[in-house]
Amino acid sequence: MSRPLRSARWFEAATRMGHTHRQRILQAGFSRGDWKGKPVIAVLSTWSELNPCHIHLRERAEDVKRGIWQAGGFPVEVPVMSLGEPFMKPTTMLYRNLLAIETEEVLRCHPVDGAVLLGGCDKTTPGLLLGAISMNLPAIYVPAGPMLTGRWRGKALGSGTDTAKAFNDWKAGVLSDAEFHEMEEAGARSPGTCMTMGTASTMTSLAEVLGMTLSGASSIPAPDSRHRHMAVESGRRAVAMVAEDLKPTDILSSASFANAIVTLMALGGSTNAVIHLVAMARRAGLPLSLEDFDAASGRVPVLADMRPSGRFLMEDFFEAGGLRGLLSRIDDLLDLSARTVEGRSLGQAIAGARVWNDEVIRPRENPLQASGGLVVVRGNLCPDGAVLKVSAASPHLLRHTGPALVFEGWADFASRVDRDDLPVTPATVMILRNCGPRGVPGMPEWGMMQVPAKLLKQGLRDILRISDARMSGTHFGTVVLHAAPEAAIGGPLALVRDGDLVSLDAAARRLDLLVDEAELARRRAAWVPPEPKHARGWARLYAEQVLQADAGADLEVLLAGPRNPEPEIN
Ligand code: FES
Repeated sequence: MSRPLRSARWFEAATRMGHTHRQRILQAGFSRGDWKGKPVIAVLSTWSELNPCHIHLRERAEDVKRGIWQAGGFPVEVPVMSLGEPFMKPTTMLYRNLLAIETEEVLRCHPVDGAVLLGGCDKTTPGLLLGAISMNLPAIYVPAGPMLTGRWRGKALGSGTDTAKAFNDWKAGVLSDAEFHEMEEAGARSPGTCMTMGTASTMTSLAEVLGMTLSGASSIPAPDSRHRHMAVESGRRAVAMVAEDLKPTDILSSASFANAIVTLMALGGSTNAVIHLVAMARRAGLPLSLEDFDAASGRVPVLADMRPSGRFLMEDFFEAGGLRGLLSRIDDLLDLSARTVEGRSLGQAIAGARVWNDEVIRPRENPLQASGGLVVVRGNLCPDGAVLKVSAASPHLLRHTGPALVFEGWADFASRVDRDDLPVTPATVMILRNCGPRGVPGMPEWGMMQVPAKLLKQGLRDILRISDARMSGTHFGTVVLHAAPEAAIGGPLALVRDGDLVSLDAAARRLDLLVDEAELARRRAAWVPPEPKHARGWARLYAEQVLQADAGADLEVLLAGPRNPEPEIN
């Protein structure tokens, strides 16, 4: 390689500190032949025993390292924060930007020439990629892969989607305690990320179409031996990317983000992707707005018949041809000249891809939905936009006007939702506020408020719900999310009162509070902002810095100014 390695500043310097660096890498057990003159590839691993989706990543890191050794690189495994969706409270979203900062700074401060990023559970994909974009060293993403299909009593169980259904059935008395527990044990039976088209599979698929993974990487189930092969090959490729100086900003472009949006719609993917894609594009210095999503929504059919929008799960998707198969069905809607980590175009990467099961990945003439997987609504209740996943909603509620029932936050909702005297009917519009980026803070996935027990017992399974929170990508229902600006900073959601009429018209992209402007002005003047919940630490910093959902909920300080300089070495 003719270009000097970045790591040579540490290891080749004829200085006292250069001597220390060499001595200390030898102390770690590596011999001179292991590292001398080789590109150092950091394997950033989000393995954690509190992240069951990543429980195989220790083994996968070894596979990646095998590939790096094979290709003549020097692999170093570095743990970074793992954002285990099931256990982190109030939400992993509070920590996405912390992982992003950690990723950027771990790469900046160490003798590293390139990186392999191991993630997959929801926010780990955007967290790692945001940091990698900002640091802009050659980097390749290795998705953890979806877990195997849950199986119970002859039926397939999908992460989140079927849990929510079973929970409703248990609450309604349809399932016994014993049956509910038995189902718990069957739902997540292998390592890997949620196997519905939730946030994890959506974001790993989008990482692939953005060009940040090897072609086909995102669809391989975690326990499949082909997942290990992909990890080895990613390690090999990372070494070549350093030689080619192929960096995230060489790969990411307006075309690749447009491709990601088209793919998101064809997947019927998670609403969370809207926030993450906006954040990633802004880090890459590329403009992306909610209108870009809505425009794609009108012209892209939903082809993946995947839960929660449809019927199938990720193992089915993989066998049907995976993301490559899906992309082959929408290749006329993609910019095939976009680059990928493979050093070739997206078009070259998916050449020859096919679909092997038309039920799982539908043909264009028989889509799951003709258009509109996700729509962006605006109106006096959300002037800066809100998101609705039409493909997972009830058609009869997509045009609906009903009286508001307001909850001030999760504690208020949880304490009242199942009371027999809750003033709720099938026409009610449930409003949850103070749950946006600053509100909790962190914008938890509380937006899919469960349907009140009173209505469940009547057989009802959906009701119109509106909030400034997010929703798990594995969930379903007529749920308007990310209303911006959020209530905690005085957005219109803060002004709604019980009984006010609220109107949703998804086709017209409208969401309005039917209260006259003079009355709203009176309420606005009387509004008192909530007290900040955190006086110190990360949560305070986050709440002070976080941008609104329509701006990607990144921190202001992470978007400001040019790239940081290389560290000084004494
Ligand atoms: Fe990890 Fe869903 S909980 S991907």
